[in-house]
Amino acid sequence: MKHLLKLMDLTREEILSVLNLADQLKFERKNGKRSDVLAGKKLGMIFQKSSTRTRVSFEVGMYELGGYALFLSNRDLQIGRGEPVEDTARVLSRYLDGIMIRTFAQQEVEDLARYGSIPVINGLTDYCHPCQVLADLMTIRERKGSFKGLKMCFVGDGNNMANSLMVGAIKTGMSFAIACPKGFEPDAALMAWAKENGSFLITEDVAEAARDADVLYTDVWASMGQEEERAARSRAFAGYQINESLMRVAKPDAIVLHCLPAHRGEEITADVFEAHADEIFEEAENRLHAQKAVLCKLLK
Ligand code: CP
Ligand code: NVA
Repeated sequence: MKHLLKLMDLTREEILSVLNLADQLKFERKNGKRSDVLAGKKLGMIFQKSSTRTRVSFEVGMYELGGYALFLSNRDLQIGRGEPVEDTARVLSRYLDGIMIRTFAQQEVEDLARYGSIPVINGLTDYCHPCQVLADLMTIRERKGSFKGLKMCFVGDGNNMANSLMVGAIKTGMSFAIACPKGFEPDAALMAWAKENGSFLITEDVAEAARDADVLYTDVWASMGQEEERAARSRAFAGYQINESLMRVAKPDAIVLHCLPAHRGEEITADVFEAHADEIFEEAENRLHAQKAVLCKLLK
């Protein structure tokens, strides 16, 4: 593993190896054990979009591993004024040991890795969100013991989360069902891959996707950068919601996950959110552990 640009680049074994290390780091942290394995290492964190979890968990993660993290907002970087990513990559490679980037185009992340000479981590693009899904997989395995025979159901927009969850689920052997309205499907190439490599269902029928699911997942109807489409999306996604009646279709012990931030009353009701808050906030905590594992794998 040289970079974390998208989950598709990782083998099943690499994913499991990150999850195992994440479990170990979580256990050690709970027991007050610290190791400065990244002493002297510097991570640059480029943010072209807002963030609470990704920013804080990467920054705290680097600190806990003995390293240092620099927050680089595009409001301050020359990249925000049009300096090419290929130049930014070559400059930052001379100062830093790794770059985490949150941006719009996946190509920008791929270019950063191509032109730079240090590991690049994708902290979310319009296309995918691999760090989030590593934490999600960690949470599912913690709660369910293994991935074997599990069904994951995603309700809502075929966005960055849906793309990464689909890949993560299929690679770890879960079946994956998505309910989304016409015109909001996930990436076509990823769906074709999922159909060929595992059990994959896409439907407009929310109940069909959720039937007997072990894991129910949803995300906002309008992602960052789609603020102007909000009203149209609210109409298109009406009914694509995790609520009490949908929960009755899933397995009785189904867990509910959400990458956050959540919009209660839109993709999830306040009742279901609060009933599953334990899982959802553990999932958020696991961002820290999963990313520390990624940092160890890439920067050590
Ligand atoms: N889930 C997630 O990536 O959260 P932030 O946008 O707060 O980083
Ligand atoms: N789909 C959401 C995920 C946020 C973590 C977005 O891109 O805004």
